[in-house]
Amino acid sequence: MNGLEEPVLSVRNLNKQFGPGCPYCQQTQSTKMIKNYCQVCGTVYACKDVSFEVYPGEVLGIVGESGSGKSTLMQCLYFDQDVTRGEAYISTYQNGERNLFQESAQAKRYIRNHMMGKVYQNPMLGLRMNFSSIGNIAEKLIAAGNRQVGMMEERGTELLNKVNIPVHRRKEAPKNFSGGMQQRVQIAKALSNHPPLLLLDEVTTGLDLSVQASVLDLIKSLQRELGISIVLVSHDLGVIRMLADRTLVMLEGKVIEQGLTDQILEDPQAKYTQQLVHSLL
Ligand SMILES: Nc1ncnc2c1ncn2[C@@H]1O[C@H](COP(=O)(O)OP(=O)(O)OP(=O)(O)O)[C@@H](O)[C@H]1O
Ligand SMILES: [Mg+2]
Ligand SMILES: [Zn+2]
Repeated sequence: MNGLEEPVLSVRNLNKQFGPGCPYCQQTQSTKMIKNYCQVCGTVYACKDVSFEVYPGEVLGIVGESGSGKSTLMQCLYFDQDVTRGEAYISTYQNGERNLFQESAQAKRYIRNHMMGKVYQNPMLGLRMNFSSIGNIAEKLIAAGNRQVGMMEERGTELLNKVNIPVHRRKEAPKNFSGGMQQRVQIAKALSNHPPLLLLDEVTTGLDLSVQASVLDLIKSLQRELGISIVLVSHDLGVIRMLADRTLVMLEGKVIEQGLTDQILEDPQAKYTQQLVHSLL
């Protein structure tokens, strides 16, 4: 990041609420709110004016407690959810001049298939468990317009190889794989169309520590090799410390702190971040 570089992704005032809202929760200092939940109408304000940039080749970490809006943010960026309001721009799409959230459904599919890859915490959401592993990769290649079977076989094999899935197991379904292997297949699928941006939501949560370490190592080496930009969500500051150049801290839907990961770890400003950092020590 040198100030001259153009961000790969810019997000401006992204808001996502679940529920209609009511006169009580729309007041600025409402007493009817418990955290970001309105007791009167049941609306959850999952993301509140979230803004950030991701630069080329950068890993941006997003950390925050359970329910702070991390997954919702990732879902909005991948168009799994519609935003309530806000803007996002990708430099490789229309010169970064079009708000992605206002594009047509067709354009969103194009952006999702060509500009982004996503890895879900729950592999059931990211993979078809009964398809072959290489078939899962082919699905994303086909979605991006590929039709040549031979080329897709080749690319699929190359990708599985990259994520250390034994090539002889490429026809096997992910349901037969271990949790770590399933995440590797998701990573291969996410990388299949050479996207400039990878969205990783709690990729290693729930895995054994040693498996976690090997998946994190894989992400790190792929990131170095491909120079891809990554948004990495985790509630685990240890994961963030290992991979993220810069970090956003979220609390109750808001970004309460952001900066270089080292700086945040050494000198956290917000009270919540201080607690988080101390719990790591
Ligand atoms: N589809 C939905 N309908 C209603 N509320 C939702 C929906 N999805 C998320 N929420 C609410 O939005 C808030 C943020 O949830 P989100 O899953 O984004 O949190 P998170 O930071 O990813 O948490 P975790 O670390 O547990 O994964 C929560 O209060 C959640 O209940
Ligand atoms: Mg989540
Ligand atoms: Zn309300």
